Amino acid sequence: MWPLARRSRKMTRLLFLNQSLSSNPKPISHSHTYYNYSVSRSFHNSISNLSLAFLHPIRSPAIRAFCSKPSSAVGVGSPPSMTEEISYLTQREAAEIDEILMGPLGFSVDQLMELAGLSVATSIAEVYKPSEYNRVLAICGPGNNGGDGLVAARHLHHFGYKPSVCYPKRTAKPLYTGLVTQLESLSVPFISVEDLPLDLSKDFDIIVDAMFGFSFHGSPRPPFDNLIQKLVCINNYNQTHQKSSAIVSIDIPSGWHVEGDGGAEGIKPDMLVSLTAPKLCAKKFFGPHHFLGGRFVPPSIADKYKLRLPPYPGTSMCVRIGRPAQVDISALRENYISPEFLKEQVEADPFDQFRKWFDDVVAAGLREPNAMALSTASKNGKPFFYSSSRMVLLKGFDKNGFVWYTNYESRKAHELSENPHASLLFHWDGLNRQVRVEGSVQKVSDEESDKYFHSRPRGSQIGAIVSKQSTVVPRRHVLYDQYKELEEKFSDGSIIPKPKNWGGYRLKPELFEFWQGQKSRLHDRLQYSPKEINGQQVWKIERLAP
Ligand SMILES: Cc1cc2nc3c(=O)[nH]c(=O)nc-3n(C[C@H](O)[C@H](O)[C@H](O)COP(=O)(O)O)c2cc1C
Repeated sequence: MWPLARRSRKMTRLLFLNQSLSSNPKPISHSHTYYNYSVSRSFHNSISNLSLAFLHPIRSPAIRAFCSKPSSAVGVGSPPSMTEEISYLTQREAAEIDEILMGPLGFSVDQLMELAGLSVATSIAEVYKPSEYNRVLAICGPGNNGGDGLVAARHLHHFGYKPSVCYPKRTAKPLYTGLVTQLESLSVPFISVEDLPLDLSKDFDIIVDAMFGFSFHGSPRPPFDNLIQKLVCINNYNQTHQKSSAIVSIDIPSGWHVEGDGGAEGIKPDMLVSLTAPKLCAKKFFGPHHFLGGRFVPPSIADKYKLRLPPYPGTSMCVRIGRPAQVDISALRENYISPEFLKEQVEADPFDQFRKWFDDVVAAGLREPNAMALSTASKNGKPFFYSSSRMVLLKGFDKNGFVWYTNYESRKAHELSENPHASLLFHWDGLNRQVRVEGSVQKVSDEESDKYFHSRPRGSQIGAIVSKQSTVVPRRHVLYDQYKELEEKFSDGSIIPKPKNWGGYRLKPELFEFWQGQKSRLHDRLQYSPKEINGQQVWKIERLAP
């Protein structure tokens, strides 16, 4: 395949591009099946320069779930919405896509393998936290699927897992020997088939099934036939025990036919990571976690094969497809690990302490560190319920208080006019911290509001004029029509006057509470309240029970 691909690369590229424009594409011949790949996405949020132990081991990026009906056909056009169908590839299409990627599109097998392995590792990290599922066994076959498993094992090591590898039929090509060397340099143990325990569930939390990919056909030969049986036993074990190893199959569960399934006796993985696009057999996958990896599919391939695939969120290397994960809400809990938070070590002044923690959040790169819940209450419960909360953005703080901006005719404004006391709550999940600030509230001066209003993007300024916040809007487009009108009016760049009903509030703190999550729910809580000593106002610091 390689000499051919190199010799005719230019010609093939032209052929491919022509075909991608054709409404009835002529299949490209594929006498040498290599393998099919897709990408994944970049990983977690940036790691902060704070101590790693201080952060959650895995920052979970937002995942979007996409539904796929088991009976779906290959879709058309733009990416599917939440309820639309996604595409499945036949074996022939999967092989063709590989040929195009590694032919006219100039990808190398090493690149695709790296991206595939990274997709698999990030998919695993999305679902199985290293704190709970630490011990991973990657069972790698002799081909490219096995190579993906080796790469995934390396990334999993760097993500904080403890991978081991079973690689019984090693491939002597430099790409593979290099992958082995890389794992050995990380002291990742290689376990022979003979040394594997009878029941893999006892020793491993996750088994990565990287034996065979979509080009596999026929019956698995030793030792893979037995290894597949071991995974089938885990399925059986699963039915009778509370917790056993989770099986993660790469692209295709080993032993399954790419356009069929594994039969009643086949592996039933808990997670399937489809690469490039799901293969037809993925319709028969009914496990809880189906992910797509392979974010390198260019539009020309997507168009040619009329691929309907979900968009990858943010910089992610994987995206959940299929039905969303079923979670047992009552079982959702974190065990926080944070440094000690001691009364003797905190700042005497809560504003200084707040500044310190706020700087930590900024350094950790958490999203919207200035987002806070603002709770207000009306005086007597009328016309609304007794109290209400909403998120607002902190726009400044100093010894005079905490400032945010809003509409002076909104619900919160009505409540504040009746009862000028409020509570602010910051929750910085990545640092296991929250801060509560309570106090009295006043409007900021008109000059201060005016200055801030004109520092905002012009679109936000117009938006503030258009929105009669908290009132009923008859139809969505009403807002857009008004917005367009004003946009037109101020298109000459003239100053947009701040509406009278828009401005800032300042909360003057009378109480602070700094909270930090700790193991076994023994969290730290330090409260600052004002106290007068010898006619002087000081802050009293007390530890509260968690
Ligand atoms: C992260 C976030 C930040 C927000 N920031 C503001 C803000 O700074 N000012 C504001 O008026 N509304 C903000 N909102 C919208 C409010 O939460 C709320 O919907 C709106 O102020 C109306 O609230 P009310 O009807 O209770 O007065 C924000 C919402 C979110 C999710």
